[in-house]
Amino acid sequence: MIPKEIIEEIRYRSDIEDVIGTYVTLKRAGSNRNGLCPFHSEKTPSFTVFPTTKSFYCFGCGAGGDVITFIQKIENLDYVAAVELLATRAGITIPNDVTPDTAKNVSRRRVYEMNLEAAKFFRSALFDPTVGAEAMQYLTEHRRMGSAVIKRFGLGYAPNDFGLLTRHMRQKGFGEDELVEAFLSGRSRKSGKLYDLFRNRIMFPVIDTAGNIVAFGGRVMDDSKPKYLNSADTPGFKKSRILFGLNYAKDHCAQELILCEGYMDTIAMHAAGFENAVATLGTAITSEHARLLSRYTKRVVINYDSDEAGQKAAEKAMQLLSEVGLTVRVLKLSGAKDADEFIRRYGADRFRSVMEASRTAFDFRLENILSRYDIMTAEGKIRAAREITSLIAGTGSGVERELYLRAASERLGISGESLGNDVARVRTRMRREARQKESREVRMSARSFGDRVNPDAAKSPAAAAAEEVILGLLLLYPEHRRACVDGRVELGEADFFTDFGKRSFHAVMEMERSADGFSFSALGEHFTPDEMGRLVRLQQDRGSLQNNDLSVLTAAAASLIAEREKREAKEAGDWQSEIARRRTELQKKKEQTKI
Ligand code: UTP
Ligand code: MN
Repeated sequence: MIPKEIIEEIRYRSDIEDVIGTYVTLKRAGSNRNGLCPFHSEKTPSFTVFPTTKSFYCFGCGAGGDVITFIQKIENLDYVAAVELLATRAGITIPNDVTPDTAKNVSRRRVYEMNLEAAKFFRSALFDPTVGAEAMQYLTEHRRMGSAVIKRFGLGYAPNDFGLLTRHMRQKGFGEDELVEAFLSGRSRKSGKLYDLFRNRIMFPVIDTAGNIVAFGGRVMDDSKPKYLNSADTPGFKKSRILFGLNYAKDHCAQELILCEGYMDTIAMHAAGFENAVATLGTAITSEHARLLSRYTKRVVINYDSDEAGQKAAEKAMQLLSEVGLTVRVLKLSGAKDADEFIRRYGADRFRSVMEASRTAFDFRLENILSRYDIMTAEGKIRAAREITSLIAGTGSGVERELYLRAASERLGISGESLGNDVARVRTRMRREARQKESREVRMSARSFGDRVNPDAAKSPAAAAAEEVILGLLLLYPEHRRACVDGRVELGEADFFTDFGKRSFHAVMEMERSADGFSFSALGEHFTPDEMGRLVRLQQDRGSLQNNDLSVLTAAAASLIAEREKREAKEAGDWQSEIARRRTELQKKKEQTKI
């Protein structure tokens, strides 16, 4: 548990507009700000930030809450981890003893400490001739890496031993469970003893943009399998959010960034002077990665292996990257299987000229389509034209469409005008479909959202509506909370019908009665981000209405109580008729036995 005043301090110093603004492009909308929701896909902004209440709400999908909820959702963290992240950002130190440090709940800071210590251990092993000679030789001779690059990337060597690292870490004061949690040690099923997970591997530390070592990749030096062993997701690390090399590339990629397939390619690129290279970590690129990249750069050059698998992956990456508005080019290297090999064979200058000639995404796809059809036949030409038409139709900018039309008509031998007409037709259809899809998605998510947060509401809409009014008022106004505490408004937990309403009322009242008093943010400790979203909505809905004085609260409380009494009367009635039914049954039986 983190003390309430520290949470408030963190919330106070984490300006919600600033924080959200680093993830979402916000525009002024009256006294509020809005933008495209990062939690569902939409084309018109329904995501709103309210600086006055320090909250956000998406009218499309129902996501909402305060700055902590936002971080929980976007970084996929629990409440405490989100608070920690904001604290770091705001330069606030949370006293150490209050963050959970127990076996199954190792904090991310602790994982970073362990990783740093392990990285130092791997590094000294690599530079120790009696332990790391073979590994060093592999890097410098086989992979032609200079010692500057080896040091810059903090490379290391995990010795061929089952216990060296674990023993070292235990000596440094790290607990057994912590080491397991951080994916540095495994625990033997038979003996229960710990053993080193990384053995006889070249170690690549994965460093986030804040400089923390969040994970390791370990490569074998021969052909054994698996080629790489990677840290599993730990408290400090989610693969889909991290890019290898971004800690260095972030300062060199405002214009353009090079996306590689792996550790080795990225390092080779940096060594050759391309400091804007990054790679995903043994996984295909996700839309999360794409969004992350779009915060750092405008243009991405995809630099994947030249084999078929690599080029297929490039196609997928291209799609995801263009969806977030990035300009994409695809590199096709010939004469080498990947960039690392290419540079070793032909040098950095040659690589640079290939980069410059890299095909635009459109060219890449156009050639791809043309290679699949025989455009000397009418049939082949028609089919190819059809695919190319929808490709061009999917391009956002009119200028680009114009250029592509010209290129395509030349390659196909079809007039630009008739191709252009087809493109216009497809675009009309696509717009219609997109609109339908968007409204369908919003409806779906709004519905399932409602069910998830307050499933009881459907069973008694009248009670649920009264509860919403009451909670909205209590969340907004201290005087209404006090009225409930000191009994001017008679309302108890038992009057609430839905479980969500009960829990919310309970939490608000308890906090109001406590010494610290009420704080919206602290609710996040007891409610999920989705529930927080609902609470913000209740607040917003209420805040937008004219009359919010005590009479509204009293009336809503009265109607909630009336609903409860109705329910009880019905239950009592049901009970009485049940007694009556049994009585007649008994009577019948008696009569039967008489006969
Ligand atoms: P590659 O097989 O291309 O490896 O996989 P590489 O890094 O280029 O290494 P060299 O040049 O062959 O020595 C690309 C990336 O896929 C992930 C790693 O992130 C690797 O860098 N990968 C590959 C794994 O996670 N596990 C594996 O077993 C193989
Ligand atoms: Mn490779």
